[in-house]
Amino acid sequence: MKNENGLKLVDKDEDGVDRAFREDVLAGLRQRQKAIPARWLYDDAGSQLFEDITDLEEYYPTRAETEILEARGEEFAELIGADRAVVEFGSGSSVKTPLLLRAIDPAAYVPLDISGDFLRASASALAKKFPDIEVHPVEADFMREVRLPDEVSSLKKLGFFPGSTIGNMVPRTAVDLLRSMRVTLGAENGETPLLLIGMDLVKDRQVLEAAYDDARGVTAEFNRNLARRINRELGGDIPVDDLRHQARWNDEFARIEMHLEAIRDIAFTVAGCGFSMQQGETIHTENSHKFTRRSANTLLSAGGWTPRARWTDSEDRFSLILAEATEKRDAP
Ligand code: TRP
Repeated sequence: MKNENGLKLVDKDEDGVDRAFREDVLAGLRQRQKAIPARWLYDDAGSQLFEDITDLEEYYPTRAETEILEARGEEFAELIGADRAVVEFGSGSSVKTPLLLRAIDPAAYVPLDISGDFLRASASALAKKFPDIEVHPVEADFMREVRLPDEVSSLKKLGFFPGSTIGNMVPRTAVDLLRSMRVTLGAENGETPLLLIGMDLVKDRQVLEAAYDDARGVTAEFNRNLARRINRELGGDIPVDDLRHQARWNDEFARIEMHLEAIRDIAFTVAGCGFSMQQGETIHTENSHKFTRRSANTLLSAGGWTPRARWTDSEDRFSLILAEATEKRDAP
């Protein structure tokens, strides 16, 4: 079951269980280092908890990126120009997108999101706010190449990918996405699209770990919600109270990792399959890679994008980079 953009509609079995969720969880729990793909963190409860995270004192990325968007509007306008189609990968976060649209005065706004309900709600809110901008939401999995609406085919494109979401992917996946963004944005039809991308920066380990392990325990609840969701949707009996949220800095890969750690030896079943965890063993649930100026440039170059301008917030915590699709390989 797929829509015209190859979007797989949720595939449920006779019991109403999401098959992809079950397969990912069972395969992930069978690995030596247990790991579950991060996309399953975002059910309704998870998405709400994630909104709450962005308001936390310790969680600086949202504030830092918003500060850049507020301060640098004139420079964006000059470098990007008016009348482009802004293509947002993931549909508009309530605050950031209006700041960009107000600054650059585009002709069209095309939010791409896998969740149709969320997409339509945020698209219609933006259409009301910006009556002069055509809004064309597209329900699609932006990890693949997306066919944009015909109405924007003659416009130059600006991709917008805020939030350091690129950092939630391992480099191989991030490069695949950057390359497919080039195609989605028309780089192979003789256009030279731009991309405005948020990338969080390497910094003090304490600051990073606190951002992913706040004092009120909201991030911990966000992480544990995955275990609750497994219990609810896959008929599991994971003892959620025996799992502790852990945010740890992996210096080798320059990333924060979120894990669920067993505080005692436990055994449980999920979808009829038995699993056990020894005290101290973890389920890896999320990565958030942090970048330096150079590592960001390397990743973008590997994905076929040439960095053209870069901004950071007043405390140098977060970067926003404007890149241009690389036309031919840079010499030599
Ligand atoms: N991309 C953001 C980040 O890595 C948002 C995010 C994704 C996040 N998953 C998260 C934030 C889990 C906190 C916890 O920071």
